[in-house]
Amino acid sequence: MTEQYAHITGWGMSVPERILTNDDLAKMVDTNDEWIRDRTGIQERHIAADNETTASLASEAALNALRMAKVPPSEIDLIIVSTSSPEHLFPSTASLVQDRIGAEFAGAFDLSAACTGFIFALNMASQSIRSGSVKNALVIGSETLSRMVDWTDRNTCILFGDGAGAFVLQAHEEPGGVLSSIMRSDGSGGDLLSVPAGGSAAPTTNQTILEGQHYIQMNGREVFRFATRVMANASKEAISKANLEVEDINIIIPHQANLRIIEAAARGLKLPMDKFAVNVNKYGNTSTASIPLATVEAVEEGRLKRGDKVVFVGFGAGLTWGALTVQWTGPFSTEEPFKLARYQRTARLRSFWRRIQRFFAGIFFGRGRSG
Ligand code: COA
Repeated sequence: MTEQYAHITGWGMSVPERILTNDDLAKMVDTNDEWIRDRTGIQERHIAADNETTASLASEAALNALRMAKVPPSEIDLIIVSTSSPEHLFPSTASLVQDRIGAEFAGAFDLSAACTGFIFALNMASQSIRSGSVKNALVIGSETLSRMVDWTDRNTCILFGDGAGAFVLQAHEEPGGVLSSIMRSDGSGGDLLSVPAGGSAAPTTNQTILEGQHYIQMNGREVFRFATRVMANASKEAISKANLEVEDINIIIPHQANLRIIEAAARGLKLPMDKFAVNVNKYGNTSTASIPLATVEAVEEGRLKRGDKVVFVGFGAGLTWGALTVQWTGPFSTEEPFKLARYQRTARLRSFWRRIQRFFAGIFFGRGRSG
């Protein structure tokens, strides 16, 4: 088999319509627009409506990415949804997305690496393509962290927003696409940013709820120090692993947590801020969705073009951090866009039909009995 490279050929995003401004937050907790802008660079964030969830945002972003790549859902072999706010503990959000978009031949799973998740997921999909086991992959970062935020805690509620972004990755023998990656973890800092309850260590009880342990807890200063330490180094490592120099990079797309963290990364890399994609002002910290959201906007603004070298770099709970160097590709296919609406109708019918089949199989063969 000829060597295969993992190219990014489609990208898409989805954010809720509802916007929450800093002034809105000032009516909810003891804060103000000036403090939030000054300390974080955030002006507003998008918040999911009651009928929007991590899977619905992920599905919409995925369909937009597939439309861009002109790849129908039936040709996707692998779906990875990176998220810290999954639809349920299980089934995976990725399985729900697989069903909704009609990716009938795809294996689907969730990846949990907090805000670094999109970097880790991109690397996993890219390695699956490089090994020859997968041809077309969908990588999605999706969050509705607004559902896990304590809206009375000014230390955290000002930071987070909801949204989703997705990439289509495709195999091709032409060199390019994902050139290098690094992934790191340090679980000794796990307590610095966590949702303590709801898992096996502290199952949900009245007590955990009364204590607010189902909300995001964060030591902001420590996370800030960690982030400013790792961003520049991770980028440098990924760049040198791709046999490139910092000067070869056209644009850096960092995790959008705080403008001051991005400025520290720029200083560490001795690069001007105009080399960085920044949209934290509009979306806040959307965790694992922030890198694809910033990428989609960078492409739309003409800042990322075919052949450009880009570094994606992120950090987050775990602690985790990582970076990728990518040579940007764009859609392979020049064919007419496929009829997405028809796919969607078929996907809904297929899903409905399978539920009906399961229902009747249950009646005929006995519900709840195996063998
Ligand atoms: N509005 C107004 N004042 C606030 C406030 C708010 N929303 N939040 C905290 N303050 C106050 C504090 O109480 C403190 O007051 P004090 O000096 O009287 O005690 C003061 O502002 C400074 O607090 P501090 O926590 O030192 O602020 P900071 O400069 O570290 O900024 C963060 C706080 C959270 C913005 C910053 O630490 C940060 O961004 N950390 C990283 C968080 C992150 O990225 N998390 C996600 C990782 S993926």
